This record gives sequence, C-alpha cells and structure tokens, in this order.
Amino acid sequence: MANDRFFTFHNGVKIPDIGFGTWQIPNEEAYAAVTTALKNGYTHIDTALAYQNEENVGKAIRDFDISRENVFITSKLPAQTKGYDVTLEAFEETISNLGVEYLDLYLIHAPWPWDEIGKDCTESNIESWKAMEKLYKDGKIRAIGVSNFSESDIQALLDACDIVPMANQIPFYIGRDQAGLLQFCKHHNIIVEAYSPLATGQILDSAEIKEMAAKYSVTPAQLCIRYCLEHGTLPLPKSTNEARIIENSQLDFSISPEDVEKLDAFEDVRSK
Ligand code: A2P
Repeated sequence: MANDRFFTFHNGVKIPDIGFGTWQIPNEEAYAAVTTALKNGYTHIDTALAYQNEENVGKAIRDFDISRENVFITSKLPAQTKGYDVTLEAFEETISNLGVEYLDLYLIHAPWPWDEIGKDCTESNIESWKAMEKLYKDGKIRAIGVSNFSESDIQALLDACDIVPMANQIPFYIGRDQAGLLQFCKHHNIIVEAYSPLATGQILDSAEIKEMAAKYSVTPAQLCIRYCLEHGTLPLPKSTNEARIIENSQLDFSISPEDVEKLDAFEDVRSK
C-alpha cells in the first residue's frame, strides 16, 4: 500500500510517496472523497485555499480514526496573495478552515496570480517566502515549498532567502516530463510533486498507453502514475470514485527503462 513508502525532504521530514489530490473536488464532495481515500490507506492529502474545499477536507481528516501525526496535510498560499503579512493571514485562514494546529507542507501556489501568468512577482514572492520561513521556524509548518515555479523563480528565492524550498509541485505526466526543471530541482534537493499525473484524464484513452498498460497487466491510470514514480516525482492523483481511488494507489510494479524512454517521447496531449 502507498502509505508505507516515503520521500524525504532535505530537512529530514518524510512525505508519503503518493498523495490524494483534491483540486476540482468541490467542498460538498470533498468530505466523502477524502474519507474514501483515508479508508483505503492514503495518508497524504493535498488541498489549497483556492480549491475552496479545505473545510470539508479538514473535517474528513478530523472525523476519521487517524491521529494527526499519521496524516500528511499540504495546503497552498493563493497565487494572488503575495507579501509578508498577507501570507501570515492566509496561513491562519487555512489552518482555521482545516481545523488543525499545524500543516505538514505549505506551498506558494504559483509565482504569479492566475489572471496574470508570467508577471514578474519576484519581490513579493520573496516577501511571502520570508513569512513562510517564519512560520516554519515557529513550528507551524513542517516543510515549505512552491508550486508551478520555474528554475528562475526558484533561483530568485535561493538568492534572497535562507531556506531552500523542500518541494515544487508542478504538472507532470506522460508527454510533459519537465526534464530541465526536474534536473534543476534534483540538483537542489527539492522534491518534485506531480499534479495532474493523468493529464486530467485526457491521456487515458490513448491507444499506445492502453497497449503498454496491458503489457504490464495494469490500467492506463496505473501506468501513468507509476511513470511519475519512475522519474522520482511524487504523484498526486485524484478521483472521487472509490474503485479508482483504490486503483490509483496499487502501483506495485515497475516500468522498464526502455519503456520509460518511449513514454518520455510522447507528445503532450494537453498541448494539442
Ligand atoms: P473521477 O474523479 O471520476 O475518477 P488528474 O489526477 O490528472 O488531474 O486526473 C483526474 C481525472 O482523471 C478526473 O477526471 C478523474 O475522474 C479521472 N480519473 C482518476 N483516476 C482514474 C482512473 N483510475 N481511471 C480513469 N479515470 C480516472
């Protein structure tokens, strides 16, 4: 089962090697989805203030028969919330929504607001990062990181701040292997978390993926999620369906290096 395997951040904190993603799961469905994930052995749940489901994600975790230290919770600072004080405030809102005392991982959701993709927010990202460093040093977060950050976005933090991000959560799936960024993160001991490991579901109908999955006697989704692990990235599959939630954590096989190479050559289905 997924939850007995971990990645280890550069500060020694361990993170279960598969997370349950909750992006696009509305608050009304989040309670049931997270409960189902916990029931089936997931111990790592990924949310964000921007997903507007923290309340029911937190309630599901609190209501479940699992102690706080045995579940790993990630949330994210909204992409448009940049600056020192607003970061501290957003963090308080998140832990209050979740009903927890601390977070395991807190990420800057994106280097720019979603309606201004590409805008240079270097200075305000540095301010946010300093606030996150404070929360980390105060013991309110066990690990801090970023999401959707490029090499240069990360480099700006490395140049100006004390703590190297422990994680960068990025879109990563067959056809989008982010080789340069992955290499950069590995070099700096930054764990890459793979969101949309199924290309939001769009890759699952590919005849080539189906054929290779059949060769390993697994489903296309399992092949896609395993691919992330083969690259040393931490997949965050999401589903609201129990059978698929279970399926997505059963990854006890490996893909041969030759087949990983074949998959690396795939075109990005989402850029077509
Ligand atoms: P559903 O919630 O109905 O299972 P990603 O993780 O890349 O964002 O993809 C999520 C999408 O893939 C959702 O639409 C989800 O739908 C679907 N999905 C998740 N797991 C599976 C699976 N094992 N087989 C088929 N579709 C899946």
